[in-house]
Amino acid sequence: LLMEPFGADIDLAEAVLKDYNAHLVRKASSMKGHYADADALEKLIQQGDPLHYEVFEKAVPQETGHLQFGLSKLQPGTVGEEFFMTKGHYHEIPEAAEVYLCLRGKGYMLMKTTEGECRAEYMERGRVVYVPPYWAHRSVNVGDEPLITFYVYPGDAGHNYGDIEEEGFPKRIYKRGDKVEIL
Ligand code: 6PG
Ligand code: NI
Repeated sequence: LLMEPFGADIDLAEAVLKDYNAHLVRKASSMKGHYADADALEKLIQQGDPLHYEVFEKAVPQETGHLQFGLSKLQPGTVGEEFFMTKGHYHEIPEAAEVYLCLRGKGYMLMKTTEGECRAEYMERGRVVYVPPYWAHRSVNVGDEPLITFYVYPGDAGHNYGDIEEEGFPKRIYKRGDKVEIL
C-alpha cells in the first residue's frame, strides 16, 4: 500500500513544472457569472475565447494524508476594468487549508468566509500566502505578465465551486489607469 516517493523539477527562472501529468485549462468562457461586466466577458469570448488560466500538477491520490501540489498560471488582462482572476472555491472539506508561494508576477489572493469576511493578500515572487481553514480563495493577476504560484493542499480537500458562485466575493479588483483598486 506504500506509494513510491518521487521528485519533480520546477524551472524557477521560467516558473514551469516539468513532466506534469495533470493539466487543467480554463478559457474566458468558463468564467461566466464571475465578472462584474458580463458584456465585456461576452465580447472577449466572441473575440476567440482566449486562455484564462492553467493548472499543472503531479497528481497524487485524492485521499487523506496525501498532499497535492502544482503550479497555477493566470494570464494578465482585464474584463472591462476588472483584472483577470480564477473562479475561486471553498474546499469540499472546508477545513482544508492551502499554502501558496508566488514564483512570478504580481497579484492578490482574495479570500472570504461564509460570514462575509474578506481579505486581499498581496503576492509577488517569493511571497507566501496561507489560506486558513474555511476561507474561499481566488487569485487575481494585477500585473502585465502571467501570475504563477506554487500551491500545496490536502489531497482529499476537493473543490466546492457552487457556494462561492452563488455568494460571489465581496470585493473586486480593478485597473483604473495605472492604479489597482480593491473595492
Ligand atoms: C486548489 C488550488 C488551486 C486552484 C487553481 C485554479 O485547491 O486546487 O486552490 O490549484 O484550483 O488556482 O483555481 P480554481 O480551482 O478556483 O479554478
Ligand atoms: Ni484551493
